Amino acid sequence: MTRKLFVTTALPYANAAFHIGHMMEYIQADIWVRFQRMQRDGGTPREVHFVGADDTHGTPIMIAAEKEGITPQEFVAKIAAGRAQYLDGFHIAFDNWYSTDSPENVELSQGIYRKLRDAGLIQTKTVDRFFDPVKGMFLADRNIKGECPKCGAKDQYGDNCEVCGAAYQPTDLVNPFSVFTNATPVLKPSEQYFFKLSDKRCYEFLRDWLNTPGRLQPEMVNKVSEWLGEAGEKLADWDISRDAPYFGIPIPDAPGKYFYVWLDAPVGYLASLKNYFSKKGIDYDAFLKDPGTEQIHFIGKDIVSFHLLFWPAMLKFADHPTIERMRVAVHGHLTVNNEKMSKSRGTGISPLRYLNLGMNPEWLRYYIAFKLNSKVEDLDFTGEDFVARVNSDLIGKYVNIASRCAGFIAKKFDGKLATSLSDNAQPWIKRALVTADGVERQANIAASFESREFGKALREIMEIADFANQYVDENKPWILAKDEAKTAELHDVCTTALILFRQLSILLSPVLPGVAANVAKFLNDEKFDWTQTDVASGAVANAMLGRTIGAYSHLMTRVDPKMIEDLFDAPQAAAAQAAPAAKAEKPAKAKAAPAVAVTETGIEVMAPEISVDDFFKVDLRIAKIVNCEHVEGSDKLLRLTLDAGEGRHRNVFSGIKSMYQPEDLIGKLTVLVANLAPRKMKFGVSEGMVMAASAVDEKANPGIYILNPWPGAEPGMRIR
Ligand code: 2FM
Ligand code: ZN
Repeated sequence: MTRKLFVTTALPYANAAFHIGHMMEYIQADIWVRFQRMQRDGGTPREVHFVGADDTHGTPIMIAAEKEGITPQEFVAKIAAGRAQYLDGFHIAFDNWYSTDSPENVELSQGIYRKLRDAGLIQTKTVDRFFDPVKGMFLADRNIKGECPKCGAKDQYGDNCEVCGAAYQPTDLVNPFSVFTNATPVLKPSEQYFFKLSDKRCYEFLRDWLNTPGRLQPEMVNKVSEWLGEAGEKLADWDISRDAPYFGIPIPDAPGKYFYVWLDAPVGYLASLKNYFSKKGIDYDAFLKDPGTEQIHFIGKDIVSFHLLFWPAMLKFADHPTIERMRVAVHGHLTVNNEKMSKSRGTGISPLRYLNLGMNPEWLRYYIAFKLNSKVEDLDFTGEDFVARVNSDLIGKYVNIASRCAGFIAKKFDGKLATSLSDNAQPWIKRALVTADGVERQANIAASFESREFGKALREIMEIADFANQYVDENKPWILAKDEAKTAELHDVCTTALILFRQLSILLSPVLPGVAANVAKFLNDEKFDWTQTDVASGAVANAMLGRTIGAYSHLMTRVDPKMIEDLFDAPQAAAAQAAPAAKAEKPAKAKAAPAVAVTETGIEVMAPEISVDDFFKVDLRIAKIVNCEHVEGSDKLLRLTLDAGEGRHRNVFSGIKSMYQPEDLIGKLTVLVANLAPRKMKFGVSEGMVMAASAVDEKANPGIYILNPWPGAEPGMRIR
């Protein structure tokens, strides 16, 4: 039976550019996919479909769009337009890149929901939800902050405490406030839709599904088994609804209710496949029903619960045909210099900066592959290790074989390889390609790629390279070339070395597709395929004997360690990956807000053009700070008393405490947004906003700088 593979990576949130952690996952999946594409089943090429999409829905994206004054659709389109440079740049060949905000996803998500409802697995319950009375919307857990109910730490999110690690409901927070307006949220009853994961059927299915041999990594089976409990008693119903306003997919027959983003996100895998198939004219339903079809999701360890509890249960009870042929491949996180990566910011390495420095994307592919195995282990990138690994393996071992031999074939033999091999050469080929136990290494290597033991595969490939280099070292073509009497020997040695080099190139193709394509061209191979690596049939050597090859041109350069310095040199580079939201009022809370787009130079992307009339809607005034004091209970805010020439004073809170002492500000002039609607905050009403500047990368530059007019300006003057 021909295997048919449907492969995905986790769908990235459409609120930031890719960071290096995304690239790691895509590289892992891309290597696996490219390996699969080189395989045949009973002579028929394996069918592989590799799709991705942007995960577009949810509150953070809705708010980010609102901040930029554009629609969520425009916002996600802007992010989507930036994807190709990363994917192409790192030779990641998705067949389709789509969006969860698509007609296919609406149809599929609603269809799955209807089936779950028909199966009696949807239940409504009225629950109290926090509501921001100023913004007029229900608040997600992460949109609410307050004091931890367990340890009392201030400024903690509504779902868990970053200080003591406690998990709780937002309603448990002490002194809660909305991250949007600082208003105290009020509890409002709301009817919510739940997926009944606590139903016995879900437990029984999940227990058997998880424990199907070969489906999941053992550590994942253990972890999820703990979540199930002895008899499913630990499984809680899952709230799949959100109230309007929400950027999402409407729940059928439930006006004003939308699917929670995590309900429709994985359905986006199917939506992307369906969209791709409709463009290619492939029958989507028939493909999914085909018993040869396997569905494989590559994901990171942080989103396991969604993929190993909710997603399989959803698919099972919506009668999705591949549920018993679905696997999830979980990887650890990428750390850089042993530092944990933040989900929104990534690490200090910017993928685009890497490319812009002229660094070869296949160096990174190789390095990542070398460190990957099939376990859920974190993987560390360190500069020195990267340079050493790439230079030693790819340049010192692999490229070195061709660079020492190919020139002689062109110069001395008109580009033609020998038509037969000597008795000296034959055993070397065998020694390099077959283990002492008689196992063909390419079969071992294929098994390692198949099981995602990429490091193991590459170590074995490098053992072949070691034999090839030993052969060249012992036979010294550069010495043979000086002696006319040794021409036949030179031909034999260089041909043998290039046979091994070709074998190495085929085996490395999934990891180094660009290099492999250049090698195929130079060796006059149409396309590399795993059947060409078969030693027993003699295919490896026979394919090359007597062949005319092209001129060798250098395949890959060494990594210059200076590049690594430059790679880490710019803090803005990290900011360019994702960015905290504008934070003029509340710098310390920027983490809660969605990311904003950032330019290549590390500044926030300019807002869309406005008319002069738009500008004049904002009334900016010179104001004198007549008093300034600390705000009891707030480690961020200062209370300013302002005179804007109105014959009265205004009370304005500003999140600038980290930068200024109250006494430094008293008597100074500053700029007030005078016609901003008053906002009720936890500590009182704020009647306007003082303007302050801050960097988009708050880690590199956490400062917030209040504006100070030149002498001569007076309270009440309008700024225009
Ligand atoms: O964690 C994340 O980045 C999510 N956007 C992943 C979604 S994966 C799938 F379900 F779409
Ligand atoms: Zn706590």
